[in-house]
Amino acid sequence: TWTTGNVIEEQVEAIRAQVGSKRAICGLSGGVDSAVAAALVQKAIGSQLTCVYVDHGLMRKGETEQVEKDFVASTGVNLKVVDAQDRFLAALAGVSDPETKRKIIGREFIRVFEQAQAEIVAEGAADGEQVAFLVQGTLYPDVVESGGGTGTANIKSHHNVGGLPEDLEFELVEPLRQLFKDEVRMVGQELGLPDEIVQRQPFPGPGLGIRIVGDVTRERLDLLREADAIAREELTAAGLDREIWQCPVVLLADVRSVGVQGDGRTYGHPIVLRPVSSEDAMTADWTRMPYEVLARISTRITNEVADVNRVVLDVTSKPPGTIEWE
Ligand code: XMP
Repeated sequence: TWTTGNVIEEQVEAIRAQVGSKRAICGLSGGVDSAVAAALVQKAIGSQLTCVYVDHGLMRKGETEQVEKDFVASTGVNLKVVDAQDRFLAALAGVSDPETKRKIIGREFIRVFEQAQAEIVAEGAADGEQVAFLVQGTLYPDVVESGGGTGTANIKSHHNVGGLPEDLEFELVEPLRQLFKDEVRMVGQELGLPDEIVQRQPFPGPGLGIRIVGDVTRERLDLLREADAIAREELTAAGLDREIWQCPVVLLADVRSVGVQGDGRTYGHPIVLRPVSSEDAMTADWTRMPYEVLARISTRITNEVADVNRVVLDVTSKPPGTIEWE
């Protein structure tokens, strides 16, 4: 019979058999899959595992801290955090084309991650140990999809922050290969991971970088992070986290509109709320969420986030719209 306990036990055995006394590396993205994969491997081989987290500065408020503090506290994992915020901002400077942003973020991510890997391999060698394994949070649907299948035409060059170039000489450890997303969440819960990680809604690898329509700057990221945090807080408070598949919050950085606040005219940016309901993100509908919650989010964002004077709701299904704006 299928229980999370059995799955954990089985995988722990399998990981130990595979890795033996060598060492493994796992990239953490802040998402559910890499976190649960890492926690399972940590349970199996303990300090033979080193996790790497690349802080690209495009995460939402509190997410990097969740990985650095809560994930580490709940698993005891060895974590190497690479602060690459300046590097990503420099590489993205002046770029507003969505696909170019994605390519730059993917490329920089791989470079930074490879550098961190090389350092860990060298440290291992200095200790007389071989770093031979790479942990990945591949799920069953990923296995099926890449196994030929029907192949889903995707019009965006998706990249996962856990994603890696093909020419690495590590053997893969993929303890979630037989699991679906909801099962991964159950395993994560059983392993004692924080709810904020286990119940996290989908979030794109390129992060807030593709939720700023226009070029990406530190100021714009900070502004969007505040607006996004308010929206998430209110959606959670209203009990809508299950009903809503995800709710991108988008900054129209190249648009300004006239507003009035106090006795003054303002000329600020709009924030778009994009709450969608979906089964698999291939199609989606905009969520008919309560007006009171929308009103609260709108009032708070316009009051609390400087330079934002308008909040608009995206009422487009997918297709024809995509979930993200870029
Ligand atoms: P779209 O915008 O294509 O998004 O309707 C479908 C789902 O994919 C997520 N998404 C991404 N995930 N890297 C990712 O890991 C990406 O580049 C990326 N782009 C979109 C999006 O959040 C939604 O869940």
